[in-house]
Amino acid sequence: MAWISSTSTIFNTELRRLCFSYLIPYSRIILYFCNMRIDILTVVPELLEGPFSHSIIQRAQTKGLAEIHIHNIRDYSTNKHKKVDHYQYGGGAGMVLSIQPIADCIETLKAEREYDEIIYMTPDGELYDQKTANQLSQYTNIIILCGHYKGVDERVRELYITKEISIGSYVLTGGELAAAVVADSIIRLLPGVLNDETSALSDSFQDNLLSPPIYTRPAEYKGLKVPDVLLSGDFAKIEEFREQEALRRTKERRPDLLK
Ligand code: ADE
Repeated sequence: MAWISSTSTIFNTELRRLCFSYLIPYSRIILYFCNMRIDILTVVPELLEGPFSHSIIQRAQTKGLAEIHIHNIRDYSTNKHKKVDHYQYGGGAGMVLSIQPIADCIETLKAEREYDEIIYMTPDGELYDQKTANQLSQYTNIIILCGHYKGVDERVRELYITKEISIGSYVLTGGELAAAVVADSIIRLLPGVLNDETSALSDSFQDNLLSPPIYTRPAEYKGLKVPDVLLSGDFAKIEEFREQEALRRTKERRPDLLK
């Protein structure tokens, strides 16, 4: 059965890639039949209860577009006290997550299906950005491993990890919040998740530009007026205004994106 699962993973991933590139108008229908699965491995599953149980991400799961499975690494520990960490060899502050329960959890999942990527969330990983989110959203099955305490035994990284991601140059208490950020940014890109498919394409960063300012009713609030052009009904002018404003904002706030 392993070859069936492996063939279908490759097929789904290729189909997803095609849809992303060429078949965007039809992708909602096509990709409905090949959802994305994200397995998150953690020692603190409670930290991940909130982010996926509300709003757009919850709806994506209800609609069958995404599956999120949270695994408690502790459940895989063979230690009689379900211990998952130890002091580090050579001394030094902080506990290290042991290889055994993580390896057993990953092996169990890998025996069930083929994974496109096994990601480790860590402050020393590559800096996460929209380009990586776009790439990951084309995959079918991914595992995200959350570090905790000092991190994981280096041999986990050597043996299993295919990609290491940092969400910013600061240190969190664990990889759980970072994993939630990555999963959220991927799922919202899946066709059918956002109501208006073009709204993901017009996000900040999709074309290396920040988004232009946006307004809603009332047209005037305490003397502050919505720019006239947005009320004009002239769509060519509105588009031009938005492009100019996006460029102005990017130059002002994130000139690095324009290099
Ligand atoms: N774990 C702790 N800090 C992190 C960060 N900045 N990015 C990803 N995972 C982390």
